[in-house]
Amino acid sequence: MPEITVALGERSYPIHVGGGLLADRPLFQGLLGNHAAVVVSNTRVAPLYLPGLLDTIGSAVAATHVLPDGEQHKTLQTMNGIITTLLEHRMGRDAVLIALGGGVVGDITGFAAACYQRGIRYIQIPTTLLAQVDSAVGGKTAVNHELGKNMIGAFHQPAAVVADIDVLRTLPPRELRAGLAEVIKYGLIRDADWFDWLERHLRDVLDLDAAALQTVVERCCHIKAAVVAEDEREGGIRAILNLGHTFGHAVETALDYRGWLHGEAVAIGMLMAAGLSHTLGMLDIQSVSRLRALLEQAGLPTTLPRGISAEQMRAHMNVDKKSQAGRLRLVLLKRLGEAFVTADFEEDTLMDVIRSHLSQDSGGH
Ligand code: NAD
Ligand code: GLY
Repeated sequence: MPEITVALGERSYPIHVGGGLLADRPLFQGLLGNHAAVVVSNTRVAPLYLPGLLDTIGSAVAATHVLPDGEQHKTLQTMNGIITTLLEHRMGRDAVLIALGGGVVGDITGFAAACYQRGIRYIQIPTTLLAQVDSAVGGKTAVNHELGKNMIGAFHQPAAVVADIDVLRTLPPRELRAGLAEVIKYGLIRDADWFDWLERHLRDVLDLDAAALQTVVERCCHIKAAVVAEDEREGGIRAILNLGHTFGHAVETALDYRGWLHGEAVAIGMLMAAGLSHTLGMLDIQSVSRLRALLEQAGLPTTLPRGISAEQMRAHMNVDKKSQAGRLRLVLLKRLGEAFVTADFEEDTLMDVIRSHLSQDSGGH
Protein backbone atom coordinates (compact mmCIF):
# COMPACT_ATOMS: atom_id res chain seq x y z
CA MET A 1 0.00 0.00 0.00
CA PRO A 2 1.39 3.45 -0.84
CA GLU A 3 2.47 5.36 2.21
CA ILE A 4 3.54 8.96 2.50
CA THR A 5 5.44 10.26 5.51
CA VAL A 6 5.13 13.70 7.03
CA ALA A 7 8.73 13.99 8.20
CA LEU A 8 8.75 15.91 11.47
CA GLY A 9 11.28 14.05 13.61
CA GLU A 10 9.59 12.47 16.61
CA ARG A 11 6.23 13.84 15.42
CA SER A 12 6.53 12.13 12.01
CA TYR A 13 3.50 10.18 10.82
CA PRO A 14 2.24 8.15 7.88
CA ILE A 15 -0.50 9.02 5.41
CA HIS A 16 -2.18 5.91 4.00
CA VAL A 17 -4.09 6.39 0.74
CA GLY A 18 -6.13 3.67 -0.95
CA GLY A 19 -9.46 1.97 -1.57
CA GLY A 20 -11.08 -0.17 1.14
CA LEU A 21 -8.87 1.11 3.97
CA LEU A 22 -11.77 1.46 6.41
CA ALA A 23 -12.00 -2.34 6.39
CA ASP A 24 -8.26 -2.90 6.83
CA ARG A 25 -7.98 -4.57 10.26
CA PRO A 26 -4.18 -5.06 10.27
CA LEU A 27 -3.70 -1.39 9.40
CA PHE A 28 -5.80 -0.19 12.34
CA GLN A 29 -4.37 -2.82 14.66
CA GLY A 30 -0.92 -1.47 13.86
CA LEU A 31 -2.02 2.12 14.45
CA LEU A 32 -3.98 1.53 17.67
CA GLY A 33 -2.11 -1.31 19.36
CA ASN A 34 -3.73 -1.85 22.77
CA HIS A 35 -4.91 1.74 23.16
CA ALA A 36 -8.55 2.58 23.75
CA ALA A 37 -10.11 4.72 21.01
CA VAL A 38 -12.99 7.19 20.91
CA VAL A 39 -14.41 7.80 17.44
CA VAL A 40 -15.84 11.23 16.58
CA SER A 41 -18.04 11.64 13.51
CA ASN A 42 -21.12 13.63 12.50
CA THR A 43 -24.77 12.95 11.74
CA ARG A 44 -24.13 12.79 7.98
CA VAL A 45 -21.02 10.61 7.91
CA ALA A 46 -21.71 8.31 10.87
CA PRO A 47 -24.67 6.45 9.27
CA LEU A 48 -22.55 5.88 6.14
CA TYR A 49 -19.21 4.79 7.59
CA LEU A 50 -19.23 4.40 11.38
CA PRO A 51 -20.71 0.85 11.42
CA GLY A 52 -18.05 -0.36 8.97
CA LEU A 53 -15.25 1.27 10.94
CA LEU A 54 -16.56 -0.20 14.21
CA ASP A 55 -16.63 -3.60 12.56
CA THR A 56 -12.96 -3.14 11.70
CA ILE A 57 -11.68 -1.79 15.02
CA GLY A 58 -14.61 -2.75 17.28
CA SER A 59 -12.91 -4.03 20.40
CA ALA A 60 -10.60 -1.02 20.64
CA VAL A 61 -13.49 1.47 20.66
CA ALA A 62 -14.49 2.70 24.12
CA ALA A 63 -17.05 5.23 22.89
CA THR A 64 -18.40 7.07 19.88
CA HIS A 65 -19.38 10.73 19.77
CA VAL A 66 -21.57 12.02 16.93
CA LEU A 67 -21.56 15.77 16.25
CA PRO A 68 -24.22 17.79 14.45
CA ASP A 69 -23.24 18.44 10.83
CA GLY A 70 -22.03 21.85 9.68
CA GLU A 71 -19.46 24.62 10.03
CA GLN A 72 -21.78 26.48 12.45
CA HIS A 73 -21.07 23.73 15.00
CA LYS A 74 -17.29 24.16 14.83
CA THR A 75 -17.28 25.79 18.27
CA LEU A 76 -15.71 25.49 21.70
CA GLN A 77 -19.05 24.17 22.96
CA THR A 78 -19.00 21.29 20.47
CA MET A 79 -15.37 20.57 21.32
CA ASN A 80 -16.28 20.53 25.01
CA GLY A 81 -18.85 17.79 24.27
CA ILE A 82 -16.01 15.55 23.06
CA ILE A 83 -14.03 16.28 26.22
CA THR A 84 -17.10 15.33 28.28
CA THR A 85 -17.33 11.99 26.48
CA LEU A 86 -13.64 11.34 27.12
CA LEU A 87 -14.06 12.11 30.82
CA GLU A 88 -17.28 10.11 31.18
CA HIS A 89 -15.46 7.09 29.78
CA ARG A 90 -12.46 7.74 32.02
CA MET A 91 -10.07 8.00 29.12
CA GLY A 92 -6.44 8.46 30.13
CA ARG A 93 -3.58 10.15 28.34
CA ASP A 94 -2.94 6.98 26.33
CA ALA A 95 -6.38 7.12 24.66
CA VAL A 96 -6.62 7.83 20.93
CA LEU A 97 -9.24 10.04 19.30
CA ILE A 98 -10.33 9.14 15.77
CA ALA A 99 -11.83 11.81 13.50
CA LEU A 100 -14.15 10.26 10.91
CA GLY A 101 -15.46 13.04 8.67
CA GLY A 102 -14.64 16.11 6.64
CA GLY A 103 -12.54 19.10 7.63
CA VAL A 104 -15.02 20.26 10.26
CA VAL A 105 -14.95 16.98 12.21
CA GLY A 106 -11.16 16.77 11.70
CA ASP A 107 -10.46 20.29 12.97
CA ILE A 108 -12.68 19.97 16.07
CA THR A 109 -11.45 16.49 16.96
CA GLY A 110 -7.83 17.48 16.44
CA PHE A 111 -8.29 20.46 18.75
CA ALA A 112 -9.97 18.26 21.38
CA ALA A 113 -6.97 15.92 21.14
CA ALA A 114 -4.60 18.87 21.53
CA CYS A 115 -6.40 20.03 24.70
CA TYR A 116 -7.45 16.85 26.51
CA GLN A 117 -5.11 16.29 29.43
CA ARG A 118 -2.63 18.59 27.62
CA GLY A 119 -2.57 16.48 24.49
CA ILE A 120 -3.42 12.94 23.37
CA ARG A 121 -2.90 11.11 20.08
CA TYR A 122 -5.46 11.25 17.28
CA ILE A 123 -5.95 9.66 13.88
CA GLN A 124 -7.50 11.47 10.95
CA ILE A 125 -9.87 9.51 8.70
CA PRO A 126 -10.83 12.27 6.24
CA THR A 127 -13.98 11.66 4.20
CA THR A 128 -14.14 14.71 1.89
CA LEU A 129 -11.73 15.43 -0.96
CA LEU A 130 -10.77 18.69 0.75
CA ALA A 131 -9.95 16.88 3.98
CA GLN A 132 -8.02 14.10 2.22
CA VAL A 133 -5.80 16.48 0.23
CA ASP A 134 -5.51 19.30 2.74
CA SER A 135 -7.07 19.65 6.18
CA ALA A 136 -6.27 16.19 7.60
CA VAL A 137 -2.56 16.69 6.92
CA GLY A 138 -0.35 19.17 8.73
CA GLY A 139 -1.69 19.42 12.26
CA LYS A 140 -3.65 22.67 12.09
CA THR A 141 -6.58 22.20 14.48
CA ALA A 142 -9.16 24.82 15.42
CA VAL A 143 -12.67 25.88 16.26
CA ASN A 144 -14.34 29.15 15.33
CA HIS A 145 -15.03 32.15 17.59
CA GLU A 146 -18.07 34.34 16.91
CA LEU A 147 -15.64 37.09 15.91
CA GLY A 148 -13.53 34.99 13.56
CA LYS A 149 -13.07 31.64 11.80
CA ASN A 150 -10.43 29.23 13.18
CA MET A 151 -9.46 31.78 15.82
CA ILE A 152 -9.07 29.25 18.66
CA GLY A 153 -6.71 26.40 17.88
CA ALA A 154 -3.37 24.68 18.13
CA PHE A 155 -0.75 22.96 16.01
CA HIS A 156 -1.12 19.31 16.96
CA GLN A 157 -0.01 16.68 14.46
CA PRO A 158 -2.08 13.50 14.04
CA ALA A 159 -0.51 10.10 14.72
CA ALA A 160 -1.65 8.93 11.26
CA VAL A 161 -3.93 9.84 8.36
CA VAL A 162 -6.02 7.12 6.70
CA ALA A 163 -7.55 8.38 3.44
CA ASP A 164 -9.93 5.79 1.99
CA ILE A 165 -10.73 7.05 -1.50
CA ASP A 166 -13.86 4.85 -1.73
CA VAL A 167 -15.74 7.15 0.64
CA LEU A 168 -15.55 9.96 -1.93
CA ARG A 169 -18.30 8.15 -3.90
CA THR A 170 -20.99 9.36 -1.50
CA LEU A 171 -19.73 12.93 -1.42
CA PRO A 172 -22.17 15.44 -2.98
CA PRO A 173 -20.70 16.40 -6.43
CA ARG A 174 -20.51 20.06 -5.42
CA GLU A 175 -18.32 19.15 -2.41
CA LEU A 176 -16.05 17.13 -4.72
CA ARG A 177 -15.69 20.11 -7.06
CA ALA A 178 -14.96 22.42 -4.12
CA GLY A 179 -12.17 20.07 -3.02
CA LEU A 180 -10.72 20.29 -6.52
CA ALA A 181 -9.87 23.96 -5.92
CA GLU A 182 -7.27 22.85 -3.35
CA VAL A 183 -6.07 20.12 -5.73
CA ILE A 184 -5.50 22.70 -8.47
CA LYS A 185 -3.78 24.96 -5.89
CA TYR A 186 -0.95 22.44 -5.42
CA GLY A 187 -0.13 22.59 -9.13
CA LEU A 188 -0.04 26.38 -9.05
CA ILE A 189 2.16 26.74 -5.98
CA ARG A 190 4.61 23.85 -6.31
CA ASP A 191 4.23 21.53 -9.28
CA ALA A 192 3.62 22.64 -12.88
CA ASP A 193 3.62 18.98 -14.03
CA TRP A 194 0.73 18.36 -11.68
CA PHE A 195 -1.18 21.21 -13.29
CA ASP A 196 -0.57 19.58 -16.72
CA TRP A 197 -1.80 16.22 -15.39
CA LEU A 198 -5.01 17.81 -14.13
CA GLU A 199 -5.67 19.44 -17.50
CA ARG A 200 -5.45 15.99 -19.09
CA HIS A 201 -7.29 13.95 -16.45
CA LEU A 202 -9.85 16.20 -14.76
CA ARG A 203 -12.73 14.37 -16.46
CA ASP A 204 -11.58 11.06 -14.89
CA VAL A 205 -11.45 12.69 -11.47
CA LEU A 206 -14.95 14.13 -11.87
CA ASP A 207 -16.11 10.65 -12.96
CA LEU A 208 -14.61 9.24 -9.71
CA ASP A 209 -12.24 6.93 -11.56
CA ALA A 210 -10.42 5.04 -8.78
CA ALA A 211 -6.95 5.31 -10.30
CA ALA A 212 -7.39 9.03 -10.88
CA LEU A 213 -8.62 9.62 -7.31
CA GLN A 214 -5.70 7.64 -5.93
CA THR A 215 -3.25 9.75 -7.94
CA VAL A 216 -4.94 12.99 -6.85
CA VAL A 217 -4.91 12.25 -3.12
CA GLU A 218 -1.39 10.79 -3.14
CA ARG A 219 0.16 13.60 -5.17
CA CYS A 220 -1.48 16.36 -3.13
CA CYS A 221 -0.54 14.71 0.18
CA HIS A 222 3.07 14.39 -1.05
CA ILE A 223 3.20 18.10 -1.80
CA LYS A 224 1.52 19.13 1.44
CA ALA A 225 3.71 16.77 3.49
CA ALA A 226 6.83 18.32 1.96
CA VAL A 227 5.71 21.89 2.67
CA VAL A 228 4.70 21.04 6.26
CA ALA A 229 7.99 19.23 6.87
CA GLU A 230 9.83 22.39 5.76
CA ASP A 231 7.80 24.77 7.90
CA GLU A 232 5.52 23.09 10.44
CA ARG A 233 4.29 26.25 12.18
CA GLU A 234 4.01 28.57 9.20
CA GLY A 235 7.00 30.74 9.96
CA GLY A 236 7.50 31.16 6.22
CA ILE A 237 6.96 28.85 3.23
CA ARG A 238 3.83 27.10 4.58
CA ALA A 239 1.91 30.32 3.88
CA ILE A 240 1.98 29.46 0.15
CA LEU A 241 -0.69 26.83 0.94
CA ASN A 242 -2.98 29.82 1.34
CA LEU A 243 -2.85 30.86 -2.33
CA GLY A 244 -6.16 32.57 -3.13
CA HIS A 245 -7.36 32.27 0.47
CA THR A 246 -7.11 35.97 1.40
CA PHE A 247 -9.42 36.81 -1.51
CA GLY A 248 -11.50 33.69 -0.80
CA HIS A 249 -11.97 34.44 2.90
CA ALA A 250 -13.12 37.95 1.95
CA VAL A 251 -15.76 36.41 -0.32
CA GLU A 252 -16.89 34.05 2.45
CA THR A 253 -17.09 36.91 4.97
CA ALA A 254 -18.99 39.14 2.54
CA LEU A 255 -21.50 36.32 1.99
CA ASP A 256 -21.69 35.65 5.74
CA TYR A 257 -20.48 32.08 5.03
CA ARG A 258 -23.70 31.31 3.17
CA GLY A 259 -24.23 30.24 -0.42
CA TRP A 260 -20.68 29.51 -1.53
CA LEU A 261 -18.45 26.68 -0.34
CA HIS A 262 -14.90 27.43 0.84
CA GLY A 263 -13.36 25.78 -2.24
CA GLU A 264 -15.54 27.87 -4.55
CA ALA A 265 -14.35 31.06 -2.85
CA VAL A 266 -10.74 29.83 -3.05
CA ALA A 267 -11.18 29.17 -6.78
CA ILE A 268 -12.04 32.77 -7.64
CA GLY A 269 -9.39 33.86 -5.13
CA MET A 270 -6.69 31.88 -6.95
CA LEU A 271 -7.76 33.41 -10.25
CA MET A 272 -7.45 36.91 -8.77
CA ALA A 273 -4.04 36.07 -7.28
CA ALA A 274 -2.97 34.80 -10.71
CA GLY A 275 -4.35 37.96 -12.38
CA LEU A 276 -2.47 40.20 -9.95
CA SER A 277 0.72 38.19 -10.45
CA HIS A 278 0.42 38.71 -14.20
CA THR A 279 -0.32 42.44 -13.85
CA LEU A 280 2.83 42.77 -11.74
CA GLY A 281 4.90 41.29 -14.59
CA MET A 282 5.35 37.75 -13.28
CA LEU A 283 2.97 34.93 -14.28
CA ASP A 284 2.44 34.80 -18.08
CA ILE A 285 -1.03 35.41 -19.51
CA GLN A 286 -1.25 31.88 -20.99
CA SER A 287 -1.00 30.42 -17.48
CA VAL A 288 -3.80 32.71 -16.27
CA SER A 289 -5.96 31.53 -19.20
CA ARG A 290 -5.12 27.89 -18.48
CA LEU A 291 -6.16 28.36 -14.85
CA ARG A 292 -9.44 29.96 -15.86
CA ALA A 293 -10.16 27.08 -18.26
CA LEU A 294 -9.33 24.43 -15.65
CA LEU A 295 -11.55 26.08 -13.03
CA GLU A 296 -14.38 26.27 -15.57
CA GLN A 297 -13.92 22.60 -16.43
CA ALA A 298 -14.08 21.77 -12.72
CA GLY A 299 -17.35 23.72 -12.45
CA LEU A 300 -15.79 26.32 -10.15
CA PRO A 301 -16.53 30.06 -10.28
CA THR A 302 -14.35 32.49 -12.21
CA THR A 303 -16.16 35.70 -11.21
CA LEU A 304 -17.07 37.13 -7.83
CA PRO A 305 -20.56 36.57 -6.45
CA ARG A 306 -23.25 39.04 -7.51
CA GLY A 307 -23.70 42.07 -5.30
CA ILE A 308 -20.18 42.22 -3.84
CA SER A 309 -18.31 45.47 -4.47
CA ALA A 310 -14.54 45.80 -4.88
CA GLU A 311 -14.42 48.08 -1.82
CA GLN A 312 -16.26 45.50 0.27
CA MET A 313 -13.84 42.78 -0.87
CA ARG A 314 -10.83 44.93 -0.07
CA ALA A 315 -12.11 45.80 3.42
CA HIS A 316 -12.68 42.14 4.30
CA MET A 317 -9.21 41.23 3.01
CA ASN A 318 -7.66 43.25 5.86
CA VAL A 319 -8.67 40.55 8.36
CA ASP A 320 -5.95 38.06 7.45
CA LYS A 321 -3.50 36.05 9.53
CA LYS A 322 -0.70 36.78 7.03
CA SER A 323 -0.86 40.57 7.57
CA GLN A 324 2.19 42.05 9.28
CA ALA A 325 2.27 45.48 10.96
CA GLY A 326 -1.12 46.20 9.42
CA ARG A 327 0.22 45.63 5.88
CA LEU A 328 -1.65 43.15 3.67
CA ARG A 329 0.52 40.29 2.38
CA LEU A 330 -0.59 38.03 -0.44
CA VAL A 331 0.54 34.73 -1.92
CA LEU A 332 1.37 35.39 -5.59
CA LEU A 333 2.84 33.35 -8.43
CA LYS A 334 6.19 33.95 -10.09
CA ARG A 335 5.32 31.30 -12.62
CA LEU A 336 3.20 28.15 -12.81
CA GLY A 337 4.50 25.97 -9.94
CA GLU A 338 6.24 28.70 -7.94
CA ALA A 339 4.56 30.82 -5.27
CA PHE A 340 5.83 33.39 -2.78
CA VAL A 341 4.44 35.79 -0.19
CA THR A 342 4.71 39.53 -0.77
CA ALA A 343 3.41 42.91 0.36
CA ASP A 344 5.00 44.52 -2.69
CA PHE A 345 2.05 45.67 -4.82
CA GLU A 346 0.26 48.99 -5.31
CA GLU A 347 -3.16 49.40 -3.79
CA ASP A 348 -4.57 50.70 -7.12
CA THR A 349 -3.30 47.64 -8.97
CA LEU A 350 -4.96 45.31 -6.47
CA MET A 351 -8.24 47.23 -6.75
CA ASP A 352 -8.13 47.06 -10.56
CA VAL A 353 -7.69 43.29 -10.41
CA ILE A 354 -10.58 42.90 -7.96
CA ARG A 355 -12.80 45.10 -10.18
CA SER A 356 -11.96 43.03 -13.26
CA HIS A 357 -13.39 39.94 -11.50
CA LEU A 358 -16.70 41.49 -10.44
CA SER A 359 -19.76 39.60 -11.64
CA GLN A 360 -21.22 41.10 -14.83
CA ASP A 361 -24.29 38.90 -15.09
CA SER A 362 -27.55 39.03 -13.21
CA GLY A 363 -27.43 35.29 -12.39
CA GLY A 364 -25.48 33.69 -9.55
CA HIS A 365 -22.95 30.90 -9.39
P1 NAD B 1 -17.24 19.51 5.92
O1 NAD B 1 -16.45 18.81 6.93
O2 NAD B 1 -18.31 20.43 6.39
O3 NAD B 1 -17.86 18.44 4.91
C1 NAD B 1 -18.71 18.88 3.86
C2 NAD B 1 -20.05 18.13 3.90
O4 NAD B 1 -19.86 16.82 3.40
C3 NAD B 1 -20.62 17.98 5.29
O5 NAD B 1 -22.02 18.06 5.24
C4 NAD B 1 -20.19 16.57 5.67
O6 NAD B 1 -20.97 15.98 6.68
C5 NAD B 1 -20.34 15.86 4.35
N1 NAD B 1 -19.54 14.66 4.14
C6 NAD B 1 -18.27 14.45 4.56
N2 NAD B 1 -17.81 13.30 4.06
C7 NAD B 1 -18.81 12.75 3.33
C8 NAD B 1 -18.93 11.59 2.55
N3 NAD B 1 -17.90 10.75 2.36
N4 NAD B 1 -20.11 11.34 1.95
C9 NAD B 1 -21.15 12.20 2.09
N5 NAD B 1 -21.09 13.35 2.77
C10 NAD B 1 -19.93 13.63 3.39
O7 NAD B 1 -16.31 20.40 4.94
P2 NAD B 1 -14.84 20.21 4.36
O8 NAD B 1 -14.84 20.94 3.08
O9 NAD B 1 -14.40 18.79 4.41
O10 NAD B 1 -13.94 20.99 5.44
C11 NAD B 1 -14.10 22.36 5.64
C12 NAD B 1 -13.46 22.71 6.98
O11 NAD B 1 -12.07 22.38 6.92
C13 NAD B 1 -13.55 24.17 7.34
O12 NAD B 1 -13.95 24.29 8.69
C14 NAD B 1 -12.12 24.68 7.18
O13 NAD B 1 -11.81 25.73 8.06
C15 NAD B 1 -11.33 23.44 7.49
N6 NAD B 1 -9.98 23.40 6.90
C16 NAD B 1 -8.95 23.10 7.71
C17 NAD B 1 -7.67 23.03 7.20
C18 NAD B 1 -6.54 22.62 8.10
O14 NAD B 1 -5.39 22.68 7.67
N7 NAD B 1 -6.82 22.19 9.30
C19 NAD B 1 -7.43 23.24 5.84
C20 NAD B 1 -8.52 23.54 5.02
C21 NAD B 1 -9.80 23.61 5.56
N1 GLY C 1 -4.47 24.63 4.77
C1 GLY C 1 -3.30 25.42 4.98
C2 GLY C 1 -2.30 24.78 5.86
O1 GLY C 1 -2.45 23.67 6.29
O2 GLY C 1 -1.32 25.39 6.15
